[in-house]
Amino acid sequence: MQQDLLTNLLLKIKRIAFLWVIVSLNVQAQNTSIKNKNERVKLNEGWRFMRYQADPDKLIYDVRPAIQEVNDSKVADSKPDEAIKIEAKEQVLKAWILPTANDFIKDPSKKHVPPAGNPTTDFPFIKSNFSDNNWEKVNLPHDWAINQAFYEGDKPEVGGGMGRLPSQGVAWYRKKISINQADKSKIIYLDIDGAMSYSMVWLNGHLIGGWPYGYNSYRLDLTPYLKIGNNNQLAIRIDNPNHSARWYPGGGIYRNVWLTKVAPVHVAQWGTFITTPEVSESEAIVNLAVQIVNRASVNKKVTIKTEIYALDSLLKPIGKALANFPSEIISIKTGENYLQETTLKLKNPKLWGVYPNQKPHLYLARTRLFSEGKIVNEYDTPFGIRKIEFHPTQGLMVNGKKIRIQGVNQHHDLGALGAAFNVRAAERQLEVLRELGCNAIRMAHNPPAPELLDLTDRMGFLVIDEIFDSWERKKTPHDFHLIFPDWHEPDTRSFIRRDRNHPSIIAWSFGNEVGEQYTDVEGAKIAKKLHDIVHEEDPTRPASASQNFAKADMPFSKEMDFMSLNYQGEGIRDASAYQHLKGGIRTSPSYPAFQKAFPDKIIISSETASALSTRGSYIFPVASENSAPVSDGVGGNPVTKEVSAYELYTAQFGSSPDKVFATQDRHPYVAGEFVWTGWDYIGEPTPYYSARSSYSGIIDLAGFKKDRFYLYQARWRPNLRIAHILPHWNWSYRIGEITPVHVFTSGDEAELFLNGVSQGKKKKAEYEYRLRWDEVKYQAGELKVIAYKNGQFWTEEIVKTTEKASKIQASADRSIIKADGEDLAFITVKITDKNDLTVPDANHKLSFSIEGAGEIVATDNGNPADLMSFASHQRQAFKGLALVIVRAKKGQTGKIKLYIKAEGLTTTSIDLSSKIQ
Ligand code: GAL
Repeated sequence: MQQDLLTNLLLKIKRIAFLWVIVSLNVQAQNTSIKNKNERVKLNEGWRFMRYQADPDKLIYDVRPAIQEVNDSKVADSKPDEAIKIEAKEQVLKAWILPTANDFIKDPSKKHVPPAGNPTTDFPFIKSNFSDNNWEKVNLPHDWAINQAFYEGDKPEVGGGMGRLPSQGVAWYRKKISINQADKSKIIYLDIDGAMSYSMVWLNGHLIGGWPYGYNSYRLDLTPYLKIGNNNQLAIRIDNPNHSARWYPGGGIYRNVWLTKVAPVHVAQWGTFITTPEVSESEAIVNLAVQIVNRASVNKKVTIKTEIYALDSLLKPIGKALANFPSEIISIKTGENYLQETTLKLKNPKLWGVYPNQKPHLYLARTRLFSEGKIVNEYDTPFGIRKIEFHPTQGLMVNGKKIRIQGVNQHHDLGALGAAFNVRAAERQLEVLRELGCNAIRMAHNPPAPELLDLTDRMGFLVIDEIFDSWERKKTPHDFHLIFPDWHEPDTRSFIRRDRNHPSIIAWSFGNEVGEQYTDVEGAKIAKKLHDIVHEEDPTRPASASQNFAKADMPFSKEMDFMSLNYQGEGIRDASAYQHLKGGIRTSPSYPAFQKAFPDKIIISSETASALSTRGSYIFPVASENSAPVSDGVGGNPVTKEVSAYELYTAQFGSSPDKVFATQDRHPYVAGEFVWTGWDYIGEPTPYYSARSSYSGIIDLAGFKKDRFYLYQARWRPNLRIAHILPHWNWSYRIGEITPVHVFTSGDEAELFLNGVSQGKKKKAEYEYRLRWDEVKYQAGELKVIAYKNGQFWTEEIVKTTEKASKIQASADRSIIKADGEDLAFITVKITDKNDLTVPDANHKLSFSIEGAGEIVATDNGNPADLMSFASHQRQAFKGLALVIVRAKKGQTGKIKLYIKAEGLTTTSIDLSSKIQ
């Protein structure tokens, strides 16, 4: 296809020197529910699934280097290594898969020609007469590993880094698809939003293509091999290598799969691009580029019409069209493409903006193609109109207003639900982040499910969309570096084409802490190549790769449109508590050097903190510094694998939130930060690799707030009256011992009382963000803090020693859910005393059972070291809390009752219900 035409057009869009003025972008092209239902249907239900327990078949994409040594718990900022290259001696299927990339390769001479013949005709699983009756029945999105037992012990097959779950290995998915007579003249595509990984697809015995990188979406044309009738056999092979990631990747077809049936003349895959080069409150110029393909055997005369509608908050068009692009009648030859470029002025546009002070208004461009008097194709492009400016000293401006980036990094897993994408679970993550005061997400380190970007558009979050964690050099033996030479271009182009219409995306990241930072001009050359590809696909947004090592005077930095710094901005291993550490990167705060070297470029901290903690766990003594690396006995307990929630402890290269805030405030030209991380994620359990999930979240894996939540909230929502006391006050074995009390408040001063006796009034000094009473001696009773701001009462907070645990209390995020087989209710279970106070050290073993129209999908408690399977209906409460995730059964409406019991506590239940839509 001639996407290159579109690309050339985009290059014409002018870049304004030193100040990026970016304009409106549409929401994703093909991936929303708005799309005409007849043309695009989900293909998620009724698959058969089989994962080999041993000795998989040999239908491999390519050979991989043998694993020489495994170092699961390498410090995250270690230097990546050179790749090991090997040549395949046996037959591999790569040559049949590479042509899937052709639409995303610019140079015609580099496009792939598939070899003749079908290499795998005799393999049983690809045949329609193979019986898969004894394979497991599954629906997509599906993550085959998430419900399994964790690998335990010292030498697990899959280590803590990848989450100790069996995501590795080879598996098959099979499904029959049915094609009616009415579809006879249609072109039929299979659209896979994400399959982890090395997916290869057969239809009726023919290998038709695939896509190795598990995070990218892709399309295959099924038309040539489809037959009318219901006996069309799809077979998809997934091969997910162990040692391929530094975190939990999930395994399987973990996002939506669609069947798209269109007339031979239709809008191409991700075939629209909307930009708004001029935006004001009174008028916006809206440019539209539409790529049309003619797959008919004859030339076609086509009328193209596009109308604009306003969208409501659920992405539904409101009322009548507000404006029309000039329609055009074109003749398009058989087998050719046509690029329509058109423009209109929209009066009084409602702008897309950032929550909470702006509103994320959205529009829809509905393109219709008419041929011989009939509509033959309809294609929806939601979009938003906004003006983004990157100002080197003032930071980010959205619609002319300065917005400080209060961002977090998020991994793609959804905690106990794993990698299988679920809209409600993702929305819940964003809701808790909103409450925190977060306004920006960095997609670490890979393209998200398309629906997540619909959510960020609708909810008014800013996004940095990121694609790679490694290029040619490797971080783990089987990571992306193995396919970088063949796939960096198609992966980068398809990533941007899919996502460039989302108004929430403000910038692209084409790499995270890659090894090429260390290779001087060689690495910079690769950076330039990727940077240029990004700009060919989208000249309107800046592009960068995050740097933890490369300094301002290195060639790598010069290739970046904005400076995307990980940790080095606030300094790495440079505070007093870090002096004893050996090895690794060590640097003083590098913001000033970058500002000096690149005075015209904005600086963003794409990763800050890497602070570590276990919710509700407090370890003594408490560091006197305001930031310290965790180690056994210093903030860390190797027996329970807990890290202290005094929120002072960090990864070796990390900094506490307090230290980050101070450095950012000392360098106000920095546009803001993306904290590592918003939510905990599966894998990378630094510092305890015998655990299963991370310690770095502000929010734990189950969605419960750590103390750190309030430290960020106090800074990010300064008008919210909060004062948060830590630790809890149940220390019967510490009577008379020093038990420091810290307070996180949006006030500037506070007085602490223990059983009515003042422990003194403290005021935050400049560059201080918490109030500490480090000499408090424990006695049971009540801690009370009264906070002040500008000398006036601000708020107060009380923490009490509880009575013994006696009750269970349950509450749901939503008690009525949809019976669509996808919607979820998240039930928080608390163990309380007779006065309804949560008992902070309660760890009862809870059992759950359910009646009615719902089912228990997963349970959790947010403890990174809990190796009980997520699918279990029993869960030990952790620090007084547990989580149950309930799904309504598809099509079954009515009451749902969840019972919760534990020995020694009164049994409780909670009522939910499900309804149709
Ligand atoms: C960074 C890295 C992240 C994560 C983090 C852990 O160096 O970019 O992916 O590993 O450290 O703290």
